[in-house]
Amino acid sequence: MGSFLKKPFYFGDLKLASNIFSAPLAGCSDYPFRKIVHGFNPGLNFCEMVKMDALVRYDEGTFKLLHSDPFCHPIGAQLCGAKLELAAESAKIIEDLGFDVVDLNCGCPVDKVTKDGSGSGLLKQPWLIGDILDKMINAVKIPVTVKIRLGWDDDHIVCEKITQMAELVGAKAITIHGRTRQQGYSGKARWEYIKACKEVAKTIKVIGNGDVFTVQDAHDLFQQTGCDGILVARGTMGAPYIFEDIEYFLQHGKEKLRTEEDILAIFKTHFGYICDYAEDRKALLDTRRVASWYLKTLPSAKDLKEKVFSTKDFEELKIFINNYSLSN
Ligand SMILES: Cc1cc2nc3c(=O)[nH]c(=O)nc-3n(C[C@H](O)[C@H](O)[C@H](O)COP(=O)(O)O)c2cc1C
Repeated sequence: MGSFLKKPFYFGDLKLASNIFSAPLAGCSDYPFRKIVHGFNPGLNFCEMVKMDALVRYDEGTFKLLHSDPFCHPIGAQLCGAKLELAAESAKIIEDLGFDVVDLNCGCPVDKVTKDGSGSGLLKQPWLIGDILDKMINAVKIPVTVKIRLGWDDDHIVCEKITQMAELVGAKAITIHGRTRQQGYSGKARWEYIKACKEVAKTIKVIGNGDVFTVQDAHDLFQQTGCDGILVARGTMGAPYIFEDIEYFLQHGKEKLRTEEDILAIFKTHFGYICDYAEDRKALLDTRRVASWYLKTLPSAKDLKEKVFSTKDFEELKIFINNYSLSN
């Protein structure tokens, strides 16, 4: 079991703390989220995807999404776009911002992203993925990686082909979300395709992704696919400690105990990061979004839930949360 966990883990020359990564999550993996995740030591901590077009025109909101602190490394950025002519410049901007890894998004299923061929739209043109990666790799020194789904639909599964192509152009890793674009998030992630990608990979690291919500899932994904690393997305929402817990499970073969008090304390820390980062109006909305995740594992905190969703005055909510304890 211990052999699944790699500490350290390498992308080329880049040394990462482990092979358990925190995913890019649009609208979620913001600065406070990455800061709370960082405390639980993932091997790599991703910002949400940013559009190449927006990056090269120095859009302020896009740069804000990429805001980070020197201590929150290693950190990955992810580019979304299908314009070959923007690939090198946008990768270079990411490198100059101090990121440790730059990834290409070939998985986003949203219509407004795929309609110009970006995100999972790229799965329809696998050769273009190779060309974009090639431009990125030639423009930067940091490791370039790619994140894909299995294919556009069941009749067009291209994950193995893309794995080989990404390896050929020199990408250091490929993350495979075990669903097609057509599947969205329905059904179970088909880990057998991650295994198939691992089998065709010679040097490129294969990172498995999809449906890791528990430490046992993490173990099973490694075991069933032979993947080199895993990337956890939805399983981190309200459970940033999952990285520490997976490591513990893979090292000791038993689960780390988390009490409701422990989880409440982690929520409060996350809340503190939101307060430090956002102005009150946004902080209130962010707090509600984040609290709804944590509250699923805090059944005893019904009064906290009620307060979070009814209070409009953020100062009042701040005092309530900071003084809240489960024995209230
Ligand atoms: C709210 C949300 C936002 C996401 N944003 C991104 C993104 O910016 N880039 C990306 O490559 N994948 C994104 N994903 C996909 C996840 O990174 C991941 O591939 C997918 O959720 C499957 O992993 P999971 O089962 O661990 O959640 C997003 C998923 C969700 C639910």
